Parts: sequence; C-alpha cells; structure tokens
Amino acid sequence: MRALAGRQEPCINQSGVGISQGDSIFTPLISEMEGKSVLLEGKVAVVTGSGQGLGRGIALRLASEGAAVAVLDIDGEYAKATAEDIRKRGGKSFPLTMDVSKVAEIQPALDRVVKELGALDVWVNNVGVLQTKAMLELSEEDWDQVVGTNAKGTFFCLQAAARWMEKQGEGVIINITSGQRARPMATHYASSKMAVDSMTKCAALAMAPYNVRVNAIDPGLVLDTPMLRKMDDDRARTLGLKPGEATQKWIESIPLGRMGTLDEIAALVVLFGLQGRSIYYRADYCRDGRV
Ligand SMILES: NC(=O)c1ccc[n+]([C@@H]2O[C@H](COP(=O)([O-])OP(=O)(O)OC[C@H]3O[C@@H](n4cnc5c(N)ncnc54)[C@H](O)[C@@H]3O)[C@@H](O)[C@H]2O)c1
Repeated sequence: MRALAGRQEPCINQSGVGISQGDSIFTPLISEMEGKSVLLEGKVAVVTGSGQGLGRGIALRLASEGAAVAVLDIDGEYAKATAEDIRKRGGKSFPLTMDVSKVAEIQPALDRVVKELGALDVWVNNVGVLQTKAMLELSEEDWDQVVGTNAKGTFFCLQAAARWMEKQGEGVIINITSGQRARPMATHYASSKMAVDSMTKCAALAMAPYNVRVNAIDPGLVLDTPMLRKMDDDRARTLGLKPGEATQKWIESIPLGRMGTLDEIAALVVLFGLQGRSIYYRADYCRDGRV
C-alpha cells in the first residue's frame, strides 16, 4: 500500500480566499492543462456503474488523464468491455461485477481495488436507476429498488471510500446527483437524489478535517445514455408522446438549447479529482444551466 500522505495545511491568500498550500486557485490548473494532457498520472479511481452511459464516459476520461481505473458495474459484460477499451488505449483498468445496493459487496470490492491498483484516490458514485411511474402507483418494491440503489448504495459506497481515504490522509469522492426538481412521475428517484445532495453536504463537512473532499455533480441532461433513452421511451408510452418528443421538450427548457456531452461531465469529474490542487468541497454543480 502507498505510504500514507500527510494532511495539507490550508493557507489564505491576500484576498482572504482559502487556497491549497502555496498555490493560487486557478493558475496551477491552467498551467498544468496547457503544459500536459495527463492530469491524474499515478492516481487510482473507481467509477461505479461505468459499464455504460455516463459512468463509462467518466472512466474513459479519467484513464485518458493517466488514472488507473476500476470499472464497477452490476453488468459484468459491460464492465469488462469498458475496462478492455481503456487497456486498448494504453490505460490501466480492471472490471469488477458488483451491486452497489448490496452493502455486503462494497467493502470486498474496495479491498480488491486496493489490492489490484495499490491505492484509492478518487471514488465516483455514478450508479443511478430511474423508473417513470405515477406517484399514486408506486409500490414498496419500486421505492426500495430506486431508493435502495441511489441513496443507500451511494451512501455505503461513500462511507467505505471515506473510511479508507481517512487512513490514507487524502482523497476525493464525487457523487452524481440529478437536480433538485420535483418529478411527479419519479417521486422515488427525485427523493433519492435529494438524499444524495444532502449526504454530499454532510459528508463534505464530516471529511474536510481529514483532507477528503466530497462533491456532487448534477449532469443535467446527458446525450444518449441508456437511462435517457429509457426515460424517453417510458414518457412516450405513459404520456402518449412520440419517440424523442419528451427529450425535445427537456432540451427546450435548457438555456443553452442542447444536452451535455459525456465528456463535458467527465471534464468536471477530472477537475474535482485533482487532489492537492483544489479547494472544491460540498460543491453541487448543475451542468445544464437550468435554475
Ligand atoms: N443521463 C442523464 O441525462 C442523467 C441526467 C441526470 C443525472 N443522471 C445521473 O447520472 C448517473 C448515470 O446515468 P446514466 O444515464 O449513465 O445511467 P445508465 O442507466 O445509462 O447507466 C447506469 C450504469 O449503472 C449500472 N448499474 C445500475 N444499477 C447498478 C447497481 N445496483 N450496481 C452497480 N451498477 C449498476 C448499469 O448497469 C449501467 O452500466 C445516474 O446516477 C443518473 O441518475 C443522468
């Protein structure tokens, strides 16, 4: 295991803004980005739900920035395919089949990451499941499936990663959330994501003394993931819309008039993942500009 890193002492610049040791907030990032393309060399990252969709985009981008990436997914075939793609591009990766809603599977998965890759610097809680169903029709089973995966799964992954990072003396945890909007056709999903927002803020405060930063990203609408396609199909079926119509309506509500790309979200994950170069913690970024 890598030697445990010491805590970084915060310092204050002349304008009174808290910054990482000896650096201004922006210049190191800008000069590093201009000077080299590999920002996470030597780091180890975990991305849950990275067999497909946004998680896959995040895993590929973290790997292209030099991180070794563990690809965790409930679907072992998709996990293998993402890890294989990373290796084909010259990166380091391995797949792990696990279900984040089963708490007993989380610690063994983390132990395996540390055994295979030697450390754990960035943990991205990306898994989320969405079901479109009217509030009056939700069953206990629907609630348990969605809230058990999105809220419980995210929390126990976060807790396991935070325990490990506390010992390491540093680390970054990033939760993928989903906007604080009321959703009458997905009350359980919206509730679970509000729980993710809240646990991000609580964990950020709990872990800041240990130099472990916890952030959330709300991707807005992301181009062409299996979840987005399913959401469009479900809306078409339940609301009598044409295929693509629900998505088009959402796009019209975005000030920039378009969905985000996988890489736009992944770039923000990289920014948050830069340990020792950032004071970002408990931030909650919405990528689609909606308010
Ligand atoms: N796609 C969007 O427009 C959008 C918008 C807002 C928020 N989000 C959030 O972004 C995240 C990713 O969304 P996506 O669109 O890529 O989803 P997706 O459904 O396309 O992909 C999710 C991945 O997670 C895996 N997975 C599902 N349940 C799992 C479990 N219990 N354990 C481990 N792996 C599991 C799936 O196999 C799949 O590979 C989710 O948290 C979602 O809520 C997405």
